[in-house]
Amino acid sequence: MRLATVVLAAGKGTRMQSELPKALQTVCGEPMLAHVIRSSKAAGSGRVIVVAGHRIDLVRRWLGDDAEVAHQKKLLGSGHAVLQAEKALKNHHGAVMVLYCDTPLVPVVSLKKLATAVKSGASCALLSAVLEDAAGYGRVVRRADGRVDRIVEHADADEDVQAIREVNAGAYVFQGQKLFQALKSVEPNAAKGEIYLTDAVEILAREGRVEAFEADASSLRGANTRLDLAALEGDMQEKILDEFIENGVKIRDRRTTVIDAGVKIGKDTVVLPHTVIEEGSVIGARCVIGPFARIRGGSTVGDAAVIGNFVEIVRSQIGNRTQIKHLSYIGDARVGSDVNVGAGTITANYDGKKKQRTVIKDRAEIGSGTVLIAPVTVGRGAKTAAGAVVTKNRNVPDGAVVAGVPAVKLNSKGKKSK
Ligand code: UD1
Ligand code: CA
Repeated sequence: MRLATVVLAAGKGTRMQSELPKALQTVCGEPMLAHVIRSSKAAGSGRVIVVAGHRIDLVRRWLGDDAEVAHQKKLLGSGHAVLQAEKALKNHHGAVMVLYCDTPLVPVVSLKKLATAVKSGASCALLSAVLEDAAGYGRVVRRADGRVDRIVEHADADEDVQAIREVNAGAYVFQGQKLFQALKSVEPNAAKGEIYLTDAVEILAREGRVEAFEADASSLRGANTRLDLAALEGDMQEKILDEFIENGVKIRDRRTTVIDAGVKIGKDTVVLPHTVIEEGSVIGARCVIGPFARIRGGSTVGDAAVIGNFVEIVRSQIGNRTQIKHLSYIGDARVGSDVNVGAGTITANYDGKKKQRTVIKDRAEIGSGTVLIAPVTVGRGAKTAAGAVVTKNRNVPDGAVVAGVPAVKLNSKGKKSK
């Protein structure tokens, strides 16, 4: 059965005190929307339709080709939002997953469970969690046989229902046709006048089977304020680090290690304290990273490389077994394999107008305190003496040795050659 996902992201998020729509607020380096889309794809969703409204221009620009967009012109409720995706799903005859962009921690395994339940005949399967304090959430009302009877929003709940601690997490899989059919007969909520998606659940429970699967309470963490967002950041960071550790990465100190969602790290790599790895960077196996290293801008680091203390790497590719151990800035560079970069080496990559590229080829040895003024290339096995300033376009040939300010070539006796 094919699976498509509708992500609800039209809300404004007034309490964030931000120009950005809530969906684009970032957690662990990526918008909440990105996390939700990634989870939906990991759960097997072939298509993603994002329902946007507030600042749809920004949402569109951010999404690019990653997802389709449906426009909810007026925020008339979660059910109304899903209806905006009906046209896009006209020819979709499978299951439809609905996710809210403000709960990005919903686990992929749980989403898969929902899809499986619908595949085996349920009209709808949804995720729930049991909370100490359920205030503000929709309550899951179950029947004697355990199946879901309906979901009642907090504001509409009587005392008995308010006493229920099992809440609706806001993640669902439906049989597509049935979902849209049911939504069309939902009446606007008496108190708020909105079309609630949760009311479609009640209709489907009357005609078929609705199941609820309980997930861990932490997976339903949402964000309405910046304080919520900060708490979410902590939770998600923990989850990301857990995943690396489970997959063979050694993280020496979880408290001071910051790694974005979307970063990849190979087995047996050790990440030392106070290290920040961001923006989709990819680190190989058996590396040592840090302490106090920062790798960003989608950089790649090969296997068995060492990126040591106070080293910043940005928009660069670093080869296998290369060592950059102390106090260096490597920006917009391609560094080959088995290169040794001495302490305090700087790639001067910005000429005041543009970022320029530096190339350091295999087995080169860069002396301490070298400044490489880009664009410039240091050849295979070439050496720069300590403190050399290699000026732009004064490429160092393979095997050559350069020294001085500006650096000039030395002859075989170590004297400046003419
Ligand atoms: C919703 C659920 C509630 C559940 C809770 C879990 C409904 C009616 N209630 O409540 O049962 O316990 O989530 O977090 O669904 N949105 C739109 N367009 C709209 C309205 C909402 O796109 O017109 C989007 C929002 O951007 C948000 C999501 O839908 O991402 C949920 O809406 P929100 O207002 O946050 O619902 P809750 O009150 O949290
Ligand atoms: Ca919410």
